Amino acid sequence: MSVVRYEPAGEIGYIVVNSPPVNALSVAVRQGLLDAIGTFAADDARVAVLYCEGRTFIAGADISEFGKAPVPPFLPDVIAAIEASTKPVIAALHGTVLGGGLEVALGAHGRIGLNGTRVGLPEVTLGLMPGAGGTQRLPRAIGIEKAAEVITSGRQIGAAEALDLGILDALSDAADARTAGTAEAQRWLAEGRAPRRLSEVPAPGITDDALAALRAKVDRTARGQVAPLRALDTMIEGLSMPFPAAMQHERSAFLALMQTPERAALIHAFFAERAAAQMPVNARPRQFQRVGIIGGGTMGQGIAAAALNAGLDVTLIERDQAAADKALAGIARMQDEAVKRGKLSQVDRDAMVHDRFRAGSDYAALSESDLVIEAVFENMDVKQEVFRQLDQVCRPGAVLATNTSYLDVDQIAGVTGRPQDVIGLHFFSPANVMRLLEIVIAEATAPDVVATAFALAKAMGKIAVPSGICDGFIGNRMLLAYRTAADHLVLDGASPFQVDRAVTGLGFPMGPYQVGDLAGLDIGYATRQRKAATRDPRERVPVFADRLVEAGRLGRKSGQGYYIYDAESPKGRPAPDVDDLVAQVRSDLGLTPRSFDDEEIRDRYMAAMVNEAAKILDEGIAAKPSDIDAVLLHGYGFPRHKGGPMHWADTVGLDRIVANILSYAADDPYFWALSPLLEKLASEGRRFADLNAKSS
Ligand code: 3HC
Ligand code: NAI
Repeated sequence: MSVVRYEPAGEIGYIVVNSPPVNALSVAVRQGLLDAIGTFAADDARVAVLYCEGRTFIAGADISEFGKAPVPPFLPDVIAAIEASTKPVIAALHGTVLGGGLEVALGAHGRIGLNGTRVGLPEVTLGLMPGAGGTQRLPRAIGIEKAAEVITSGRQIGAAEALDLGILDALSDAADARTAGTAEAQRWLAEGRAPRRLSEVPAPGITDDALAALRAKVDRTARGQVAPLRALDTMIEGLSMPFPAAMQHERSAFLALMQTPERAALIHAFFAERAAAQMPVNARPRQFQRVGIIGGGTMGQGIAAAALNAGLDVTLIERDQAAADKALAGIARMQDEAVKRGKLSQVDRDAMVHDRFRAGSDYAALSESDLVIEAVFENMDVKQEVFRQLDQVCRPGAVLATNTSYLDVDQIAGVTGRPQDVIGLHFFSPANVMRLLEIVIAEATAPDVVATAFALAKAMGKIAVPSGICDGFIGNRMLLAYRTAADHLVLDGASPFQVDRAVTGLGFPMGPYQVGDLAGLDIGYATRQRKAATRDPRERVPVFADRLVEAGRLGRKSGQGYYIYDAESPKGRPAPDVDDLVAQVRSDLGLTPRSFDDEEIRDRYMAAMVNEAAKILDEGIAAKPSDIDAVLLHGYGFPRHKGGPMHWADTVGLDRIVANILSYAADDPYFWALSPLLEKLASEGRRFADLNAKSS
């Protein structure tokens, strides 16, 4: 069946797009629209309603066609044909009207949206800019400043704001887009309205000062990405040209961005997230409406808030009533914050905190829970004791999950009489904000328990990534590797501040020592103390980090770590004595420092990350390279416009990374043991992306 059909119905003609899942503008949809406009022109209908079936109006260009040679008809021409119609075309919108979808709507002569519609031009989030008239029609509809904000942020705009801005002409509470469009068409017919073409609206202007301020603002927020500024400049340049020339100009700038590594990386990230969420099992999820949470500390509170936000009922168990009350107060505060920021209504907040949430200390309250998530101290004995109790009180078939960061989920499952119901759900802090959820599948975990975990992730709006069992799973195991590379750089002569600067220069929001200060330096210290007795003698210890902790400098929470946090510098300034302290440690250890340039720092940091990732893949802990990218992008601040470590490695070339590792290994063969998989791929001239293709 055709993806676009024309339905004549007397005075009104319907142009109906039906191309699941999101009515993207594939070549078939573009051709279908062009044909339908031709049919409408020849039909007796006096006005057309353009709408989509399914979950949404057109959600944009077809991203899967990017990177391939463009095939006609091209979208700008299709939109020009819609706009040129001598009879009015009204776009009736619902769902997410994004990118090329909004550009089609802007080509129509009127736009009505159902309540709940969201619109936006997210092209910059894909390393692109609007390429089918968005940079020229939007400013004519809403003015330069507002259009610049919409285009360079890529954000989605709710229906009420879209109406306010003038992107929509009207909102409708009709049951569907066809009904809304019909009512609007009848109004146009009654009023005898003629087409209003945005391309014919005079171009708005802007003063030099206002433009300079806009450019400075976009430059600040672009964080090293090229697309946002290019989009702004193209819009402004085009507005001083005749419309057809401006369209040519936009098109060539769009096609130039299509060739950038930034575009390739961002599209890779888009598909990596969606590929990760493909369930590795074929099973139906169990129900999970009633969620139990054990432990109401940092993670328990965040997970509770995430579950409440997803519409689930939560029962939280703490060690005593006082601790339970403290957890309740913490969650209430979090939800109050959400109300203040306009993310939650007061009514919903009250329903969550008073009706859908219970906190106490009696495990018996979990007897009816469908799914229980444990988030107590990171200690095997404590966790095993909790699971023994859960085994006693929970109903048969309840899913029992642990939020452990490092511990062996098989050992936790082993103390229950139902290991098939046990799984790891590794949330990230703050759990109601961070989108990553590692789903740790244990030896005996049943397929429908895995399916339940993926369904929970979807309900919570999380990016789910499956992981096997190892110390730290995918993310924390890699974190340890690249943090260790940073520590070695400092032991050998780099300053921690130089390392942080070099790493933020790659696009990470923070360097490893800034992250250490934020998390608390005592955490790494405690881990090193615990592992001291069994440590391999070849392992190099960051003694400088131990000295800081022993001097009471725990990072942000104590006001000082590598950086000083006070009223003068709430985000931290380098502590002046750190370089001396490190120099003293080097001298105590008999190490002769040498200098590193920023490029070598970055190469070593990234090589450690990629090498460990290849080992994780080889061991089957991660199912595919793009899953590792999704983890680093969403849990560890990896710059999205570089696509993730695996994509980055493919871009740089695996042979270059292998050569670097071999040269580092000359001095430290223990730490720099080369991954056999990485070596093999490099020697065969292959890329990590080839393994993605194989597994999908
Ligand atoms: N092209 C091709 N496939 C797309 C797509 C697109 N634009 N948008 C979504 N899909 C696919 C997804 O890959 C997914 O496929 P899968 O089921 O096989 O994994 C499926 O549609 C459903 O997508 P989601 O899982 O993301 O569904 P959600 O309901 O969570 O979200 C959405 C829907 C908000 C539309 C989200 O998919 C989205 O943000 N899509 C991208 C929208 C976008 O960036 N559009 C602009 C494209 S650039 C452009 O238009 C250029 C123009 O100016 C010329
Ligand atoms: P936390 O110390 O803030 O909270 C732990 C809570 O568990 C405390 O409130 C404690 O009273 C409670 N508790 C301890 N034993 C209990 C028991 N037997 N029954 C009921 N409650 C009990 O710790 P946090 O940071 O919340 O960590 C919890 C778990 O989450 C750990 O396994 C940790 O490794 C993991 N995790 C932590 C992350 C973080 O960034 N903090 C990130 C991801 C996972």
